[in-house]
Order: sequence, then structure tokens, then C-alpha cells
Amino acid sequence: MTIDLLDKFDPLIEQRAALLDTGLTDPFSLVMERVESPTVAICNGKRVTLLGTYNYMGMTFDPDVIAAGKQALDEYGSGTTGSRVLNGTYAGHKACEEALKDFYAMDHAMVFSTGYQANLGIISTLAGKDDYVILDVDSHASIYDGCALGNAQIVAFRHNDVDALEKRLNRLPAETGKLVVLEGVYSMLGDVAPLNEMVAVSKAAGAMVLVDEAHSMGFIGANGRGVAEAQGVIDDVDFIIGTFSKSVGTVGGFCVSNHPKFEILRLVCRPYVFTASLPPSVVATAATSIRKLMHGSNKRAHLWENSKRLHGGLKALGFTLGTEEPQSAIIAVIMPDLAKGAAMWEALLAEGLYVNLARPPATPANMTLLRCSLCADHSSEQVEEIIAMFEAAGRAIGVLA
Ligand SMILES: Cc1ncc(COP(=O)(O)O)c(C=O)c1O
Repeated sequence: MTIDLLDKFDPLIEQRAALLDTGLTDPFSLVMERVESPTVAICNGKRVTLLGTYNYMGMTFDPDVIAAGKQALDEYGSGTTGSRVLNGTYAGHKACEEALKDFYAMDHAMVFSTGYQANLGIISTLAGKDDYVILDVDSHASIYDGCALGNAQIVAFRHNDVDALEKRLNRLPAETGKLVVLEGVYSMLGDVAPLNEMVAVSKAAGAMVLVDEAHSMGFIGANGRGVAEAQGVIDDVDFIIGTFSKSVGTVGGFCVSNHPKFEILRLVCRPYVFTASLPPSVVATAATSIRKLMHGSNKRAHLWENSKRLHGGLKALGFTLGTEEPQSAIIAVIMPDLAKGAAMWEALLAEGLYVNLARPPATPANMTLLRCSLCADHSSEQVEEIIAMFEAAGRAIGVLA
């Protein structure tokens, strides 16, 4: 008898079928037929404002970024067909790593094919079988997967709870390797970690610290280096992980560090060695974008304005939000349940707005969320229109009185 290995997904298949049987548009198979700008696209045949792209700094249509990509495509071809440690390191990969070193003012930078692989590779290479990874329970999947790949002992602590982190650390044997893994901004609720306290507690317990700044790069901190910079602890962080798929506006991942032995990781990190490197056009767009983000203070200021305007507007309407005050470019609107959340998502699309629908297990505390990610290219008028669309959809669905 063959055991059908897909049987375990039956509950999910049934839940999805039940939702679609109500006539709902599938929130997880939307097609972007045309993209006009970082903030406008044609989705499922309709022109919509984009509010769920993580394209925080609007770099995807920057003329210099596009020109760099086209030139690299012409000069180096469409792909490297090779690993970074064999035939897959071109001048463009080194230039991209130089741009990262300058952006973060750090000694070393290693570019991976995605941010997922950067976490997978760095965490699994640093923390092996007898080491401990101490992580926030709401950590991104790539962080959990990095622990699993390295067979590290996982110790999770309550989300953003400094005391819980300290207690967990103090219970661990003194003689073992410890890596505390934190995120600057947690992407589900858009809340920021108290890195200043957490880094201090971790260092006092003899742990090394890695911070994933995927959702803060380019935006948070005086130079856009992230929450660790904003809270004055970047010099105490051993490793920063990031992605090119958000503020940088393309695809790829990286780790930067001042650790003197960092370069050895290139030879021992499996998700760096055993995969093809990014195409030359991608690293050229990334390097150009990163260098432009160094001078992005006006855009950063406008993005903060947008975040405050949207948060204030939605709160005034009576929506329950993921944070009391705006803390990042992510504003999460908490829905009462999946059915209402999916209906609201569809009503917003009908109004002309695209947001992300997030549901368990990706969300904390079994919440259904409409996650909004703002862009520096959203005008103030667009943000006002977005608030009006939330009001209309909320009243139509009965989420607002
Ligand atoms: C916190 C965090 N880390 C890492 C990643 C992975 O980034 P990438 O899209 O480059 O694989 C994401 C993406 O969603 C993320 O939110």
C-alpha cells in the first residue's frame, strides 16, 4: 500500500476549498498583469494602488537602477551559471559587496542568492549541533530553517520580551556557543525590537548577536542601516542579515560583519557554496540601488510621514492595528477572523487597493491580518485615498460600524 504523502495537507485543502466555495477571489493566486510604478499595477484586470509590496523605498523603477541592470545584461549576459566559489563571482558581485560594506561601514559583506538563503546559510554555519540559537518566538521562517539545517538547539523566548531573553540565556551552560538571533522590525505586526536592551543582555551572557534587518534597511536609522543603528547598538552586533527584495528593490540576500574571521564562511556555508550566484543584472541593480539609498534621507522622511498618516487615519476610523504608534513602514490591520479578513481583502481589491492577507501559521497568536507596507513613492494624496478605501470596504463588510 502506498501512503499518499500529501494526505497530511487535507485540512488545509478543505479550508481553502470552503473559502473559495463562497465565491471569494483567491487571495493567494493574484496575478500582476502589468506594473506601472512602485505604487500602481494592473492586478486581475483592475488598476490598483499597491500597498503590500515591501518596496519601501520605491527603487524598482529608479532610472539609474534600471540602466545599470540593462548594461550588465548586455556586458555580462543573462546569468552566471555558477556558484560563488567557482565560476559565479563576477566583478559585479564584488562591486555589490563593496557597496554593502560602504553602506553599513563594515569590513566584510557576503552576497547570497536570497535573504532566505542568507539566514539559512549563516545561522546553520555558525550554530551547529552542540550550540544554542536563542530566538524570538515570532522569528521569520528562514531563521527557524537555519536552526534546523545546523541541528542547533533552539531556545525560543516570548516576542520582544527582554526579561524572557535574559532568563533563557542565564539557564544555558556557560561553556556552550550561543547565538542570539533578533529582527529589527517584525514583519507581521510591524513592531520594532528593543535591540538596545536585548543586545546588552546577550553580550553580558557571552552570546554572539545576529540581527535580521530585512524590513528596516534603507528606511530606519540615520543612514538607513536599520534598527540597530537607530538604537545606537550597531557596533555591538556581530552579524547583520539583509535582503535585496525589499528596500533595495530586486532579489538577493547578504550578511555584513566586522568579525576578523568572517571570510572563511565563504568556504563552509552550504547555501552559499552549493547554489548558483545572482545574475549580473541583479547584482548591478542592487549595487546601484544600495549606493543611492545612502543618500535617501528625503525619501526616508516622506516614508515616515506616510506611515504616520496611514496609521493615524486607520486608527481614527476604528480599526485595530498591530502597534499603538507607527514604528515602521508596515501597518497591520487586525481582522476578527479569516472569513472577514478574506472578505475585506476582496472588498479592498474591488475598491482598487492591494494589501497582503496574512493568516496562521505565518501570523502570531492565530491572527488574520491585512498587512500594509508603505512606499516612499506613495504621495500624501494616495495615502488619503487608501484610508478612504479602507473606510468604504470596512463598512461594506461590516468590520466598521
Ligand atoms: C525577516 C525576514 N528575513 C528574511 C527574509 C527573506 O528574504 P528574501 O525574500 O530575500 O528571501 C524575509 C522575507 O520575507 C523576512 O521578512
